[in-house]
Amino acid sequence: MTEKVVVSIGGSILIPGIEDHEYIKKLADLLIEVSSKVKISVVCGGGKTARYYASVCRELGGDVYEQDLFGIAATRMNAGLLDMALGNNNFPNIPETVEEAVNLFEKGNIVVMGGTVPGHTTDGVAAMLAEGIGADRIINATSVDAVYSDDPKSNGNAERYSRITIQDLEKLVGTEHGASKSGVFDPLGVRIAKKNKIDILTVHGRDWEDLRSAILGQNIKGTFVDSH
Ligand code: UTP
Repeated sequence: MTEKVVVSIGGSILIPGIEDHEYIKKLADLLIEVSSKVKISVVCGGGKTARYYASVCRELGGDVYEQDLFGIAATRMNAGLLDMALGNNNFPNIPETVEEAVNLFEKGNIVVMGGTVPGHTTDGVAAMLAEGIGADRIINATSVDAVYSDDPKSNGNAERYSRITIQDLEKLVGTEHGASKSGVFDPLGVRIAKKNKIDILTVHGRDWEDLRSAILGQNIKGTFVDSH
């Protein structure tokens, strides 16, 4: 049976603000190429657009719920760009729920979505979508090249892992969003992946070779989180 994959792509990878159209076009080409071998869906993060809108909302007196709504809107704009590059042209009708995305996926499309409701991140959505479609693995395409014992950007002594268990990852990320030491994956997403025995492969989203290998389930330079 054809394997199913969910790619969770951070906004910081998708749209950092430098020649973003080139990366998004290349990513779309890669997804189209590998879609002959695996069934793919993608959840896009909000990155700095989300953070900027949330911060202006906060300055205007908006509460956390309202800030989340701006964050979600940004994730859907980012998803719209990738969706357009794939030739789907769903924007602005990007799936708003996991159920909607599952239905589209089952029709055979490369589904692209962003956030859903306030209170979690797009990693959490990626895990929910993975549960919904019965995915074999989640690809965490992020701005670090692997899972570390601590944030490698602030702690040069952080240990790098090539393979860990989901129980190890659960200990690393903590229980609440924001409590994570490495910030590598949303704790809610980890819990869902553990419950459904879905492996999580963390790779740098701009490392084409590793991203491709992860999607195809081949050996990676990043971290393989074993959920079995
Ligand atoms: P992200 O998931 O992109 O946040 O959503 P992030 O972890 O900062 O990821 P990067 O930087 O893209 O890698 C942006 C914000 O949108 C809200 C949250 O406030 C989140 O921080 N959000 C997102 C939700 O409330 N619900 C969702 O389903 C998704």
